[in-house]
Amino acid sequence: MTKLYYIFIIFLLVPQVLFSQLRVDKKLTDGWKFQKGESEQAFQKDFDDSSWETVSVPHDWAIYGPFDKEIDKQTVAIIQNEEEIPSEKTGRTGALPHTGVGWYRNEFTIPSYEAGKKVLVLFEGAMSHPVVFLNGKKAGEWGYGYSYFYFDITDQVLAGEKNTLAVQLSNQENASRWYPGAGLYRNVRIIVKNKNSIDQWGTTITTPFISEDVAKVNIRTRVSGENLRMVTRILNADGDTLATDKTRALFGNEFEQTLAVSSPMLWSPETPCLYTAVTQLYAGADLHDELTTRFGIREIELNSETGFSLNGEVRKFKGVCLHHDLGPLGAAVNRSALRRQLTILKDMGCDAIRSSHNMPSHEQLELCDEMGFMFLAESFDEWAKPKVKNGYNLLFARYAEKDVVNLVRATTNHPCIVMWSSGNEVPDQNGYDGAKRAKWLQDIFHREDPTRPVTVGMDQVETVMKSGFGSLLDVPGLNYRVHLYEEAYKTFPQGFILGSETASTVSSRGIYKFPVEMAKMKQYDDRQSSSYDLEYCYWSNLPEDDFVMQDDKDWVIGEFVWTGFDYLGEPTPYDEMWPSRSSYFGIVDLAGLPKDRFYLYRSRWNSADETLHVLPHWNWEGREGETTPVFVYSSYNSAELFVNGKSMGIQKKHSGSKQNRYRLMWMDVKYEPGTIKVVAYDNNGQAAAEKQIVTTGKPYRIRLEPDREELTADGEDIAFITVSVVDRAGHVCPTATNQLRFEVNGQGTYRAACNGDPTSLEQFHLPVMKLFSGKLVVLLQSTTSPGDMALTVSGKGLKSGKISLKSVY
Ligand code: GAL
Repeated sequence: MTKLYYIFIIFLLVPQVLFSQLRVDKKLTDGWKFQKGESEQAFQKDFDDSSWETVSVPHDWAIYGPFDKEIDKQTVAIIQNEEEIPSEKTGRTGALPHTGVGWYRNEFTIPSYEAGKKVLVLFEGAMSHPVVFLNGKKAGEWGYGYSYFYFDITDQVLAGEKNTLAVQLSNQENASRWYPGAGLYRNVRIIVKNKNSIDQWGTTITTPFISEDVAKVNIRTRVSGENLRMVTRILNADGDTLATDKTRALFGNEFEQTLAVSSPMLWSPETPCLYTAVTQLYAGADLHDELTTRFGIREIELNSETGFSLNGEVRKFKGVCLHHDLGPLGAAVNRSALRRQLTILKDMGCDAIRSSHNMPSHEQLELCDEMGFMFLAESFDEWAKPKVKNGYNLLFARYAEKDVVNLVRATTNHPCIVMWSSGNEVPDQNGYDGAKRAKWLQDIFHREDPTRPVTVGMDQVETVMKSGFGSLLDVPGLNYRVHLYEEAYKTFPQGFILGSETASTVSSRGIYKFPVEMAKMKQYDDRQSSSYDLEYCYWSNLPEDDFVMQDDKDWVIGEFVWTGFDYLGEPTPYDEMWPSRSSYFGIVDLAGLPKDRFYLYRSRWNSADETLHVLPHWNWEGREGETTPVFVYSSYNSAELFVNGKSMGIQKKHSGSKQNRYRLMWMDVKYEPGTIKVVAYDNNGQAAAEKQIVTTGKPYRIRLEPDREELTADGEDIAFITVSVVDRAGHVCPTATNQLRFEVNGQGTYRAACNGDPTSLEQFHLPVMKLFSGKLVVLLQSTTSPGDMALTVSGKGLKSGKISLKSVY
């Protein structure tokens, strides 16, 4: 969304300052009371909530579990998975207790409130069907749990007294295809501003002309009030003023200004340069409002000759789809967790994110602006026709336009967003009404934002080729169906195809199955999938099926892999098999630990750094003499494999099969304990890098590796500590499953742990967990006091591990 750097004051701490403030934007974070279950009187101002749990928001009431197979058990045939007969799906929505009603209450005071001010309450997402009460009276309601929305509560708010905000949320069964989370999982804000003020989400910044010498920055600002004028400045990242403009000319309720920035620094994933616009609203001689909005200068173009380009350079999306949950944190948004996700993806060479299949968090967009990721912001997984009985189909007629309008207005100034998506695999692809709906939604996006193209992720490719649905879109997005790309390209008029969803290869980190062979919907007794990366679903494919389309066809403009990270729910290929409760699709597991596939993508996407990755691990006691293929994912085109010093020959990437083009594979290696070494050769045949893996000894010691040494003492920052067990020589034991215990002391709290095992029923917030394939991750959260914190991890028969971190203001 518009990154609005409102003047931010914690007014309970410094109430006297408020009188001079133009605008207050306060996050309601602490002191929330929460209760699960129906409550007839909880909306009342004076309701006694003292026995309720005290929580802080963002909050996801369901993530604490316990996992239960009966929760939201759905007996369905998943049509898009080509199923015809209904079967019982456990774990489809994560098997966590997200269904039912929950209530939140919070008290806030506006000490400086004077008559004539305006007060808004804004929700950045509330799961779901929020009904909002202020001081015992209904302030408004919304439907979709992913939408941003706000209500004007000026007439209900009490000046100088306690105001009571009460929010009821209700989640039905059969309302989602993945874990939706539950509760106030994104920020809630109170905004107090003058009557003469800039409207909420009222600033729209575009850059209609860009050359090397100058960029024209167009700023439109919707305002309310009388006798108004506007003064706007543009600042660079150092805070220097680059341009200023003053105007009195109002067009309806909108000011429009165009400012010039000379020698503009363009925004791109490689150079995420940002500017800010400070818009000041005067009435007569007095300043009444001021907003700071961050933006970027960049140009996107799509044409039938060259496809997609950013700042004049043709490029293909190296993207991943992400669901909104953050693994062990559930849906509760957290900036540190999002930053970690993006840091890992950046290292892979990924340059784009698709927020499947709903509105992204503002935090995620802000980070993508700063760190350099293009963004495909999606709105819906359903339109008028259902995928799940109680899904968005029930809300479409009443809310679709409002939801799209709010999405665009709240986020339009993020340079990272380069495309909108109005839907994902909507069943409305079938039938004439569906094409009409596609046009209707695209027109709303265009009306609100004429600068960005719109796509839909389509899986009914044969149907949409005939019905006109695919032809009317700005960008035809195909989900899977690589065998139909060529035909769709010829049929559609746009001249290009986007892989809006690709691969859906399945694997479990560190788990390898034999014999090594390609397989569809392969199931094993342990409910894991093989990390040889050769297993996929009925409708999906292997990474290389997409790579060849991306590499060989100019008219394919990129891909968004399903998915970057594993997510809660949708445990295909074990949809019917308990205890599977989270996905196997991720390139990175639920704990944020890269699977082998990470290096396959890295070897082609990260062109700046060397990749040399070897799999599987080499602890195969009992498989001596058996065929144990070795794969190498590398940025080098050839390599030689040695097993205990003996050469297994040189492999070169070649076009024999799709896999041979991108992987180096020794299929006939016989397992013997010891060392496997890979020497990679550059294109001149010179040894350029090497990597070795050994058969490890028994687990001996616990090793802790934090992602950072220093946290911010804001009560929200999180450090992620990778925990592994190593043998006496310090090698990570790749099959260890030891049960570990965590203890935190000092200025930090234990937040959660996750081991990435899609079948684990251990609760994330309890301080015990088993290792999965030798590893897990512990999340340590700062408090609001600076100081040292220590994490001790212990396990039976193991030397404990301990680390200290610092937290500072
Ligand atoms: C797609 C769908 C995604 C996910 C994926 C699994 O069809 O759009 O939401 O279900 O399949 O492969």
